[in-house]
This record gives sequence, structure tokens and C-alpha cells, in this order.
Amino acid sequence: MPQQRVTFDYTNFLSTSVGPEHGLTDGDFSDAAGLAERAFAAVSAERGRGWQGWTELHKSTGYADECAALWGRLAGRFDNLVVIGIGGSSLGTLAVKSALCHPFHNELPNDARRGARLYVLDNPDPTVCAAMLETLDLKRTLFNVISKSGTTAETSSQFLVAREAVIGEVGAKRWAEHFVLTTDLKKGDMRKLAEAEKIPALPVPDGVGGRFSVLSPVGLFPAVAMGVDVRELLAGAAEVDGRCASSDWRRNPALALGLCLWLLDSRKEKPIHVLMPYATGLADLADWYRQLWAESLGKAKSLDGRAVHVGPTPVKALGAIDQHSQAQLYAEGPFDKAFVFVGVRKFAREVTIPKAYGDMSAFGYLGGHGLGELLDAERQGTEVALTAAGRPNATIFIDEISERSLGGVFFLLEMATAYAGRLYNVDAFDQPGVEAGKVASYALLGRKGFEEERARIEKSRPAGGRKTV
Ligand code: PA5
Repeated sequence: MPQQRVTFDYTNFLSTSVGPEHGLTDGDFSDAAGLAERAFAAVSAERGRGWQGWTELHKSTGYADECAALWGRLAGRFDNLVVIGIGGSSLGTLAVKSALCHPFHNELPNDARRGARLYVLDNPDPTVCAAMLETLDLKRTLFNVISKSGTTAETSSQFLVAREAVIGEVGAKRWAEHFVLTTDLKKGDMRKLAEAEKIPALPVPDGVGGRFSVLSPVGLFPAVAMGVDVRELLAGAAEVDGRCASSDWRRNPALALGLCLWLLDSRKEKPIHVLMPYATGLADLADWYRQLWAESLGKAKSLDGRAVHVGPTPVKALGAIDQHSQAQLYAEGPFDKAFVFVGVRKFAREVTIPKAYGDMSAFGYLGGHGLGELLDAERQGTEVALTAAGRPNATIFIDEISERSLGGVFFLLEMATAYAGRLYNVDAFDQPGVEAGKVASYALLGRKGFEEERARIEKSRPAGGRKTV
């Protein structure tokens, strides 16, 4: 059998590694076997239906081809792509860029870069937005405005600001040529806008929520523009999907991951789940995971409508940097965390540490080793230390950072989230808490139709004013 590109090693989640108080025992697994099988059955039954349209995205290259064709028509005119979108509309793109593009992609000259420079306007921070629009050559800049709902204030507002800036640069007749919209297939003002202004529009397919959209045109178009091989991303997802066909968690890596983390939370009091890749290019993958795990599993109500207020707290970390920031807490603080490292078996490049100062102990042992070798030794060292300290930890191994492995890891984490949703007995695909915040901001900015919400907010202001010191 060929070596798998993506594997999940859960050895140190087990009681045999970290002891029965903090690690999972055979008894924990046998008690949960029925629940795991039911979670598998429920997720399998809904694949491709309702909000599980994302499970099928890798099965066709239709959207990849549509994105490639559109970029093919535009590429000659643009050096920069600015994604305007937030949350699920931008986090996947940032993860793809960090993992798969040259670490200094945006700084490379045009003839050395694989695709367009990529920037993101997510937070409506006026300093960043203004600076970006002043700095980029807007004549050579395409904006991809991404919003499933078409109503997100951060995105709508920055679209309006960018539109104005582009009009200032190319005139009122030509501004629309600098925009591509990615939004719901049929609904919403963004779709209407695309039609009214004749702006090319890509679909956020039905059944694909923001945080599950990285393999849809939401992530594919920016990826194509950056020069990423998106067919390989999809192929990587398909490879992992092919290994998620069993209801036996021992033969289904996503079910194993979802089940272990749920068991560690619910049976071993580990509500904090740290994802800690050991590769700088995967730091934004941890950010993407943080949204996926938090927004999908943090819920007030169970599937049968009871108040439950459940959800693990995901934490992003980066090895080896966080060894010098968080490791003290991880090894000696409260026993409330489970760790998942991401280990890279082979880095795209290796840098050999030169041999010098052999007689000085701080330098001598390093000469001849590689920086990648050092980083991986740090990962192993952390694994050993946390295991010895009774801290359950696992590792997602990837053979190398590539389109294939990243597509596989995206799908692994998405499927694990879907299974975990069933185990926590919550709807992993809605986000009422996010919507509540959006509605409050509409009301505060005076959006029509939100007058009652505004009155409610005014009434809820603290009677004696805010307490400050
Ligand atoms: O995962 C989600 O659904 C959210 O994080 C959304 O992606 C985010 O709120 C942005 O929403 P929209 O794409 O509708 O602008």
C-alpha cells in the first residue's frame, strides 16, 4: 500500500501513553462505539443534502474549471487580487496562500511569481483599508468580493470603499471591470448587484456554509489567481474522503479525530483543543480550523431543542514559536487541554546548518543538521514532554506541504467537525450567535428594518452608564 499523504496518529490520546485519568481507555471507546456509529450514519445519510453540500465539492472539477476560465480572461490585466470577505469567506484563502505560495509571494517580481499578489480586506479597520487602497496600483488590481449572504457589513462597506477608490482611478464607466463577486447562487443583494452592474459572479453553491467553503469558488478563485493547482487540492480531499467510508472509527481518520476530541472533552474534561502545526506555512490553517471548530460546535441548543451551551474552545498555536510562549502552560497548567500537532515529514526545502564553533556547546551539535530537522525534533520533543506530563496529544502527519496534502487536511478537519457535531448533538452547520452580532451592528448603523433591534439595544444600555476607571 502506498504511504498515505495524511494520517492521524492518536497514540498519545490513549491511556497507555498518558494514563487513565487523562487518556482514553478501551472502556471509553467501547462505551462510545454505538454513538460513533450513529454519528457516522447520520453524517453519511445527509451527505450532499441540506447544509452538507460541501461534502461533494471535490467530486467535480466544474467549479475549478469555471474559476480557471474566469481568471484566464482577467489575468493579463491584473497583478493584484484583493479578497474582500470575512470569516469563512477569507480564512481558507489565507490558509491556502500561507501553505502553498512562496513565503514572500507578494514581494516577488511579476516574472518570478506563480500568480497574482494576494491581499485580504477582512476586518473593516480604516487604517489598513485606506493604506491598502493607497498603496496598490488600482489600475492593476482586481477585487473579489465574497459573501454568501451578501449582507455582511464588513464586506459590503469595504466593497463600497474600494469601488469609490477604483472609480477615482479608472472612472465610473470602467470600475465594474475590476470586480468579481462570489455570492449565493440565486439570492441576495450581491447577486442583484452583479446582474445590475454586469459584474462576473461566481456561486457559493447551495449547502455550503462559509466555514466549509474553501473548496468551492470562495477558495478556488483566489487560489487559481495565486497560481495554485486547485485540481490537486480537490484530489487531496478526494483521497481523504476515500478513507472516511467506514463506520469503524479505527478505519476512518476523520471519525477517529472527531470521536477522540469529543471523548476527551466529555469524559476527561479537556474542553480546550489546541491545533499546533510545526510549519510556519500552516499557521493560517490553524486559524481556519479555529473558526471551523468554534462556529460549528459552540451552540446553545441541542438538535432536539434543549438548552445545552456546549462546545470545545479551539486554540491555534504554532511550533516551535509557541514552545517559547505557551509550552509552560501546556505542560504544567490545568489539565484542560488536548493537543493536535501537525507534523510535516519532508519540507519543500532544507537548509543545512553550517558547522562552526565546534568547541562551543551552544553551536557545535547543530552543524550538519537541517533547520527542518531541528523543527521536527522540536515537535517530537514537545510530544515527549507533554506525554510525560500526562497531556493527551495527537499528530496529523502530512508527507509534505502540497496541494494534495492541504486538500486532504481541509477535508479531514471538515469531516471531523461534522462527526463531532453529531457527537455533541448540535447543528454543526448553523451560526445563530454570529447572526445575532450581525443584526446588532445593522441596528446600530441604522439599517432599514432593524429599528426594533435598535430600540432594544438602547433599552439594554446599563442604567447608571458604563463603569470605567
Ligand atoms: O462560516 C460562516 O458562515 C461565517 O463565518 C461567514 O463566513 C461569515 O460570517 C461571513 O458571511 P458571508 O459570507 O455571508 O459574508
